[in-house]
Amino acid sequence: MCATMGRPEGRAIFQVEFALRRSKTTRGRTAVIVGAQWGDEGKGKIVDVLTQTFSVVARYAGGHNAGHTVIINGKKFILQLVPGGILRPECTSVIGNGVVIDPLAFLKEVASLRAGGVRVDGNLFVSNRAQVILPYHRMMELGSENAPGRVKIGTTSRGIGPSYEDKMGRRGLRIADLLDTQLLRAHIENTCREKNMIAHALFNSEPLDADKMFREYADAAEQIAPFVRDTALLLNRALAEGKSIVFEGAQGTMLDIDHGTYPFVTSSSATSGGAATGTGVPPTAIDTVIGITKAYCTRVGSGPFPSELLDAQGEDLRQRGNEFGAVTGRPRRTGWLDLPLLRYAGMINGISWLVITKLDVLDHLTEIPVCVGYKVDGKETDEVPAQACGYEKIECIYRNMPGWASPTQDIRTVEALPKAAREYLAFIEKETGARVGMISTGPDREQTILVPSFISELGLDSPAARD
Ligand code: GDP
Ligand code: IMO
Ligand code: MG
Repeated sequence: MCATMGRPEGRAIFQVEFALRRSKTTRGRTAVIVGAQWGDEGKGKIVDVLTQTFSVVARYAGGHNAGHTVIINGKKFILQLVPGGILRPECTSVIGNGVVIDPLAFLKEVASLRAGGVRVDGNLFVSNRAQVILPYHRMMELGSENAPGRVKIGTTSRGIGPSYEDKMGRRGLRIADLLDTQLLRAHIENTCREKNMIAHALFNSEPLDADKMFREYADAAEQIAPFVRDTALLLNRALAEGKSIVFEGAQGTMLDIDHGTYPFVTSSSATSGGAATGTGVPPTAIDTVIGITKAYCTRVGSGPFPSELLDAQGEDLRQRGNEFGAVTGRPRRTGWLDLPLLRYAGMINGISWLVITKLDVLDHLTEIPVCVGYKVDGKETDEVPAQACGYEKIECIYRNMPGWASPTQDIRTVEALPKAAREYLAFIEKETGARVGMISTGPDREQTILVPSFISELGLDSPAARD
């Protein structure tokens, strides 16, 4: 029997938690932050703003393919694995079981945060059930991406997909196993031999050295050990104590393994459902889902993008929005806001609040086209295709909204926004059925407009909100 579960006080803790969890009045508030497009919507900045009052931030999916930018008084942080809460010393940050962790990337990120004066000891925890990315995952990904005849996804080359493949194939290594030296040695010896054979046969890859890998990862394991916890227990306990949790999504709805533009997706459940499976917090404990969308659209890598602009206007949006990947530096593809996709994201995630970021990037325009519907074979449709080739048939129906042609970066209330900007936001609300709770008009923490009803519904104004 498992040692913790068998202890009488362990059982007592669970009973108290279950009782508390049933009562919405005593448990802490929760909100999921989810990308409503193809990632890079500005989730990092929004999580940072919300952690003013939330106690815990938990990442639930993806890995160091994510790049979440937070700018505080001009100082820039790009977080890949570590949740945004780390930049507030009073917050607890958790990397949940749904995340795939490259131990070397994690330690590098931790070292860089420490060097920047950020506290990471005692306030950052890693799930013992999270999967580990090993060098052969990257080898398999590179081989597969470059193999003739294979569909090139345009991945971040971080080994994300192959690591999730091993998880689902029940042959992965979890963080708890990484800390078990004997198991680690046996796992690396066996798996490395197997992967070397497959990669050589399929892609003619150079073999990896299992001994060297074991030494490197055993050393990393020692450094990671102090961060490792049963984070499902930690999070449920925090909730039972009345602490509030924000779940930090990575990637976006259209990159979700099930609901995105398959196969041009990532390999995890990026949508809000992933917050429950990826942390061990039950779906019944999720109060609010907040979808983050840019005022226009971007995507990195290959795959369908109905409202993409391939002309000078697209280049203009890229330059003005500084649309270059936070992690890979790759130029992002750009296009107009796609309302059918936003409605789809609303349905899949259960979005009740939207946050519109990068409104300022449209400041110069006198007219803003918005995709309001799709036509396939001349007929209007609300359906989002299940096949990537289905997107080729889509003809976007555009409506031109009046632009405001004036700066918004220093505006701090909705009322002070130009009339055309308010109309743009109201139109998004009307077309999606979600309310706009926050508007971002620049990359800095301060360049944010909070809507009063959003503040009160999320309890952002409550003095005891963090408890
Ligand atoms: P994430 O992956 O969703 O966290 O987004 P990224 O950090 O990858 O990309 C968003 C980029 O837009 C970053 O460079 C942010 O600093 C920047 N950004 C966020 N909000 C705004 C905004 O309202 N205006 C402008 N101009 N930039 C923003
Ligand atoms: P954040 O959290 C934008 C894209 C990659 C590629 C596809 C699969 O910063 O929003 P992967 O390496 O995951 O197997 O690549 O997914 N992608 C992202 N695009 N933002 C991200 O994360 C992304 N994470 C993965 O470009 O097209
Ligand atoms: Mg990003």
